[in-house]
Amino acid sequence: MGESATLTLRGESYELPLVVGTKDEVGIDISRLRAASGAITLDSGYGNTGACTSSITYIDGEKGVLEYRGYPIEVLATHSNFIETSYLLIFGELPTTSQLTEFRQLLTKHQFIHEDMRHHLEGFPPNAPPMAILSAMINVLGCFETDLSAADDDAHFMKQAARLMSKIRTIAAASYRKSAGRAMNYPRADLRYTANFLHMMFSNPFEPFDSDPVIIDALDRLFILHADHEQNCSTSTVRMVGSAQASLHASVAAGVCALWGPLHGGANVAVIEMLRQLIDSGQSLEDFVASVKNKDSKTKLMGFGHRVYKNFDPRARIIKEACDRLLDKLGISDPMLDMAMRLEEVALNDSYFIERNLYPNVDYYSGIIMRAIGIPTNMFTVMFAIGRLPGWIAQWREVRTNPTSRIDRPRQIYTGAVDRSYTPIAKRDSA
Ligand code: CMC
Repeated sequence: MGESATLTLRGESYELPLVVGTKDEVGIDISRLRAASGAITLDSGYGNTGACTSSITYIDGEKGVLEYRGYPIEVLATHSNFIETSYLLIFGELPTTSQLTEFRQLLTKHQFIHEDMRHHLEGFPPNAPPMAILSAMINVLGCFETDLSAADDDAHFMKQAARLMSKIRTIAAASYRKSAGRAMNYPRADLRYTANFLHMMFSNPFEPFDSDPVIIDALDRLFILHADHEQNCSTSTVRMVGSAQASLHASVAAGVCALWGPLHGGANVAVIEMLRQLIDSGQSLEDFVASVKNKDSKTKLMGFGHRVYKNFDPRARIIKEACDRLLDKLGISDPMLDMAMRLEEVALNDSYFIERNLYPNVDYYSGIIMRAIGIPTNMFTVMFAIGRLPGWIAQWREVRTNPTSRIDRPRQIYTGAVDRSYTPIAKRDSA
């Protein structure tokens, strides 16, 4: 008998086994608690609930550690590239040269979307939110690619993963070109993943286009930093939808919608809007921070705080350094960066933020990098989604290949009305 915890409930004791991870994280397995005691656990927002065991990503929020498949994010952000890191996340190991070549060839082979999908794109109004288009178009993709299950067939799954990764980039660029009233660019077979995306976003038909290698590198690194983050809101959504045995496309489309929210991936847009408003209004930072601290104002310091990181977000550190380097190399002086740094300093010295362990998160400086690259603000969360896709794919596959996986179905404690008798409508009207 392994280690266990004892729960005393209404005078009865229950032994609950422990599950210990490879980094000595301890979970109390309550899967048999209701059957044994009739009680469930309640954990609003799931702050203390492990929904699964997983071998993909490890976070130590107290120490600011993030690892993909055992490799520290700092190492991958320095030495790897987005496609190699994606392969690592999805298939569990860094690829050999021939494995990477095979994966890259699949990405190139599947980079075009079906021509008929352009009609779907044309149907969206010009001001449609790009995250709505992205989610809808991933579902449309699922209508054109119907061989979508087989998570346990390696070759088929690799094709499926490569197709989705390749096409999400074509769809994202096409949705931007549509919103900007510009012709869609076809992908190019001679360009690597990130350079190809920049070409589809920014080149003009019949004009030569070469992205600055500094920009390609910065965006590639940004994608690596977003590639997975264990059981966050969108990933949990992907896993939950996948647990019902929905297809990869359906699950990822749902994940895109979750990511869209301003408390999650949408924060990168909200940060820029906050900084712009501060610059335009001339409001003092002290006044702004005071309004953030006033709960009645419902104002948050966007890009600050994290459910898991209570010391620092390692991604934010890397992004801040990358941001400084990129702006320096491109010779850009961005007033938003100055404002962000001043605001960060005011917040980090304020007892409200100190006491609550609130630090800049991944979204605080990422928008400034994207502005420097030329990505329009309404596409920021789409960039997050492109980066997060390999993580979603890996997590979906983990659910679908786990023989003990069951449909996710939380319980609740009912707090509504009881034992009411039905009154016919005529009597309700006359009451
Ligand atoms: N500004 C002001 N107060 C904050 C902030 C913030 N950004 N974040 C947390 N707090 C306060 C919160 O009001 C609470 O105060 P109190 O104890 O007095 O009630 C305390 O800090 C603890 O916060 P919480 O709301 O319990 O934290 P949470 O784990 O539920 O929420 C969060 C995490 C990321 C949603 C939240 O920090 C937040 O809303 N941040 C701003 C949005 C943001 O930047 N989101 C991106 C997250 S990182 C990337 C991603 O996941 O997509």
